[in-house]
Amino acid sequence: MNIVIVGQGAIGLLWYHQLSKNSNNRVSLLCSARITSLPPEILFTDLENRTKTTPLTLANNTALSTADVILFCVKSYQISAALTSIINHINAKTTLIFCHNGMGAVNYLAALSQPCYALLTTHGSKIITPFHAQHTGLGHNDLGLINSSLNAEVELEEQIVNTLAIALPSLTLSDNIKANQWLKLAVNCVINPITAIDNVNNGQLLSEKYTTLIEQLLKEVIAVAACEDIRFDFNELKTKVLLVARKTAENCSSMRSDVLHQRPTEIDYINGYIIKLAESNKISVPKNEKMVQQVRKMTN
Ligand code: PAF
Repeated sequence: MNIVIVGQGAIGLLWYHQLSKNSNNRVSLLCSARITSLPPEILFTDLENRTKTTPLTLANNTALSTADVILFCVKSYQISAALTSIINHINAKTTLIFCHNGMGAVNYLAALSQPCYALLTTHGSKIITPFHAQHTGLGHNDLGLINSSLNAEVELEEQIVNTLAIALPSLTLSDNIKANQWLKLAVNCVINPITAIDNVNNGQLLSEKYTTLIEQLLKEVIAVAACEDIRFDFNELKTKVLLVARKTAENCSSMRSDVLHQRPTEIDYINGYIIKLAESNKISVPKNEKMVQQVRKMTN
């Protein structure tokens, strides 16, 4: 398959390296315009701590116009700009896959004729130095169509699922990815702002001192989700959130990492997305509002 990866972050390089291993794939990387120095190859350290190199092939207009798949591995607040910058070069049949935290980032989704998918990953990856990524945790991928007006092309979809699943197992094709997105959103609404505000590892959320705040945030998320026809059971959801905190106990959440490096955060697409929906449904979500205010204050 002809594949373009957008973004040279930890997840972008993880996919770039894994997909390039298969000689049936022609993979190229579209890097941010602000990158001035490009190495001839990328470095990748695998789960067994072995470091390998992969030649760096940059995506040009030909790669974009002939791509079967374009995989966006950029932050939620970068999606719109990334999409706008290439939309005139891409084919109406190219499949677009979005891999990011949060929701509401693909804002002109309804106007797109290309099949669009969300890819939710729990694989851990981090950047060691620019263009050197390390796979830090084996995870799982969920993929699902997000433009509801289109029907998936079964054969093409199967090919994409196989290609991605061989590159980075395991992968499930979901016919209700919205439910998976909301579960991930609920997890992120709790773990990301609290760890960023208190500057703690994810595992600290298991401490009793966070129980009330976690419960209040989840109750608000559940009320808003119901307006979108997503039903959560409070106890089940709380158990799932705490399980992620336990499984990633030693991890620094992406939002905490963004705050520590004084980068923009994805707060507007996580708790901010809850606030936006709450407003349109006239629901009060004071705890989520507080998270947004506190995180914004830390990065302004
Ligand atoms: O954004 C993150 O850091 C991750 O989605 C998660 C699950 C909170 C683990 O750190």
